[in-house]
Order: sequence, then C-alpha cells, then structure tokens
Amino acid sequence: MKIAIGCDHTGIALKEALKTYLDSRMIPYEDFGTFTEESTDYPRIAEKVCKAILSGGFDRGILICGTGVGMSIAANKFNGIRAVVCSEPYSAIMARRHNNANVLCIGARVVAGGLATLICEGWLNAAFEGDRHQRRLDIITRIEQRNSLPGISPLDESAAKEEPQNASKLTDEPKPNQDTQPLSPTAGV
Ligand code: RB5
Repeated sequence: MKIAIGCDHTGIALKEALKTYLDSRMIPYEDFGTFTEESTDYPRIAEKVCKAILSGGFDRGILICGTGVGMSIAANKFNGIRAVVCSEPYSAIMARRHNNANVLCIGARVVAGGLATLICEGWLNAAFEGDRHQRRLDIITRIEQRNSLPGISPLDESAAKEEPQNASKLTDEPKPNQDTQPLSPTAGV
C-alpha cells in the first residue's frame, strides 16, 4: 500500500507525526506538501493528492487541514474519491469496512498527534467488507456519473492553468497570526 499525504499550513506538525508513524510501519508514502507554515489554500493540496490516487500511483491518501472539513469537501469533488473526516478511530474503521474510504482527512486543530495516529492506524488496518456495501458504493458511482459534465476530466490541467496561482494572496491574505490564534466561537479563521 502506498500513501499520498498532504496538508495545508495548519497541518505541518501533524503530518510529520503521521509520517513518523508510517515510517515505523514501513508503509511507503509521498508528501505532496505544503512544506512551510505560510498560509496556503487547502483545495490545491487536496487536488494534488486526489490526482495522484486517481492516476493509479497511490492506493490511498491522507489530508490534513485545520478541521479536516475543507480537505474532505475538496477531495470528494473527484469522482472515485471517497474522503472522510474522522476525529476518532471508530468512524475511521467503519469508513473502511462499509464505505471503502480511500482518503482520510484529519483536523490538526481538532485532534492531537496521539489520537490522530490511532485514527490513522484503524483506517489503515481495516478492510472493506464488500457485499451490500459495494452495492451502495455502486449507487454513489452512478450518481457521480450522472452528475459529471461531459468532456471535463478531473485530471484535466487546462482549467487550473487559467486560475491565478496567487489568488489567495490577492483576495484574502490573512492578517498576521490569524490562522494560529486559539479558536473561539467568534474567531474568523
Ligand atoms: C485555515 O484557516 C482553515 O480554514 C483550513 O485549514 C481548514 O480547516 C478548512 O477547512
């Protein structure tokens, strides 16, 4: 099993912790970034990891952002990706057994390294049970097919070329420390 792993700027430390865990289990992986704590846009990393999986070079992916939510929303835009955001091991295990989840998303601001490792371990060890669960996934595949626009492949690079690479810098550059302040119900992170 080969893993594609990635994070945004909130997930650098947790990604390193999970890479250490993968090393300890001798599970091969490739890190698709980001590599610094400079603010970055999580969908770009989700796209890299999902394309790597859909191209056939990787079996599964791990994506980390502040909550795991943004990464899971972005990843699930790719047909064939079944991404789940998990904050405890039970959901991660069941996401393999029943949903054949091929991308695990974790919130670096939600779970600490020890729990994240247990979530990851449960997800890596559990096996898809097939049978009625495969039938349900087949329904999801047909939904994907019905909703796909003809002629546009998720692996098509041409759309990305038209998008300014520094769009976030132009439009929503965070204020200093905005992304590292403690979360409060009113925080605009
Ligand atoms: C970044 O502030 C944060 O929004 C991102 O890491 C993620 O949690 C989005 O879902």
